[in-house]
Amino acid sequence: MDKHISVAIDGPAAAGKSTVAKRVAKILNFTYIDTGAMYRAFTWAVMEKGLDPQDEKASCSIIPEVSIDMFEDGTVVCNGVDVTRAIREPRVSSNVSYIASYKDIRLAMVDLQRAMAASKSVVMDGRDIGTYVLPNAEVKIFQIASVECRAKRRYDENVSKGIPTSFEDVVADVEKRDYIDSHRAFAPLKPAEDSVELDTSPLNIEEVVDAILAIIHEKTGIEIPCH
Ligand code: DC
Repeated sequence: MDKHISVAIDGPAAAGKSTVAKRVAKILNFTYIDTGAMYRAFTWAVMEKGLDPQDEKASCSIIPEVSIDMFEDGTVVCNGVDVTRAIREPRVSSNVSYIASYKDIRLAMVDLQRAMAASKSVVMDGRDIGTYVLPNAEVKIFQIASVECRAKRRYDENVSKGIPTSFEDVVADVEKRDYIDSHRAFAPLKPAEDSVELDTSPLNIEEVVDAILAIIHEKTGIEIPCH
């Protein structure tokens, strides 16, 4: 393939974006980039330093010393530490929206994200990929699902990973993050004008993957390999 293709998948917390984005990337042999994991890693670094994630000045002060490396197998390394599991823990989940609302941190993450997408075909998921990070992406999908449905998926995911949480806490966390993500001043969560909205509430993972592959085929003309 001569031309690089960018697929942007945005949407609220726990809409199942990463699971399907990963599968779509694998089927197309594109690189999957989980931008939420980058904000989570930064949050981990702030907390590891003993700083308060609600303190914008303190959190931004460590930008020059935070390194984040993302590997094809999903491993996330922050400042040399494998944080793949730690960034999914509730203490990070409940603080990451503060970190993701700070403009200077976003600008640093966006630079990294654009650099990662510059030289290869990617499926990138997040909140502002179609609107801000990759405004020229060939395919933009805005994936939504009801709060109950998203909380149930995130709760099941936590259980399967052995991360202790209550369902009520997950609902509260999803609602809180929706609010902060969509009300922040800089690059808030919202659909790009040229995005395709996909409500995944009634669909299983395979159906969502197939729906996204159909949209990619329609927008770019690329043939979808058998899967
Ligand atoms: O997708 P996730 O739940 O791992 O995202 C973690 C947080 O990071 C979430 O509160 C929204 C924020 N985020 C963002 O603001 N912009 C992105 N491109 C990706 C995630």
